[in-house]
Amino acid sequence: MNMIDDIKEVLIDAGQLAERVKELGEEITIDYAGKEILMVGVLRGAVIFMSDLARAVQVPVAIDFMAVSSYGASTSSSGVVRILKDLDEDLNGRHVLIVEDIIDSGLTLNYLVDNLKARNPASLKLCTLLNKPSRRKATVHVDYNGFTIPDYFVVGYGLDFDEKYRNLPYIGILKPAAYQK
Ligand code: XMP
Ligand code: MG
Repeated sequence: MNMIDDIKEVLIDAGQLAERVKELGEEITIDYAGKEILMVGVLRGAVIFMSDLARAVQVPVAIDFMAVSSYGASTSSSGVVRILKDLDEDLNGRHVLIVEDIIDSGLTLNYLVDNLKARNPASLKLCTLLNKPSRRKATVHVDYNGFTIPDYFVVGYGLDFDEKYRNLPYIGILKPAAYQK
């Protein structure tokens, strides 16, 4: 069975992703001129986006990762956020840019922003590839937004369902049959 058979529709193709990542990189390069960024990727969905974004930025970028409790094999948020892997870096005095794959309810990021702010960074901003504002339950200030999307469950370019589809080079809408089986 090919992964592509589970995709109902391509929402954002590889060319559109590359173009938007380039634009975000240019914006970030201007905003952080003369500074060094510490990108904090939220595992595991943000990995592919962050690896492209870091290379689209022309100021020095250090990277670190955090893992928080995620949906597992379900497609809706439990609202419970747990740190499964904490950062290795000290945030004190650093310019921290959180990089996320998607903001849905906002519960994860609402928690993470407060948690990282308490570690005394010089600045803290948030960059998300995708944003589903229609599903928001908690307030999140997004500094850099790749694409605002409707309320579909999407996969690809790092986003998974049950650890599948992360390596699709585009953002696709999953057929309901693929998560009902
Ligand atoms: P919240 O609801 O806290 O959740 O903003 C953000 C996290 O939920 C996952 N998520 C998705 N993953 N397709 C996915 O593959 C989706 O459409 C989707 N919506 C939410 C994702 O891990 C994100 O970090
Ligand atoms: Mg995620």
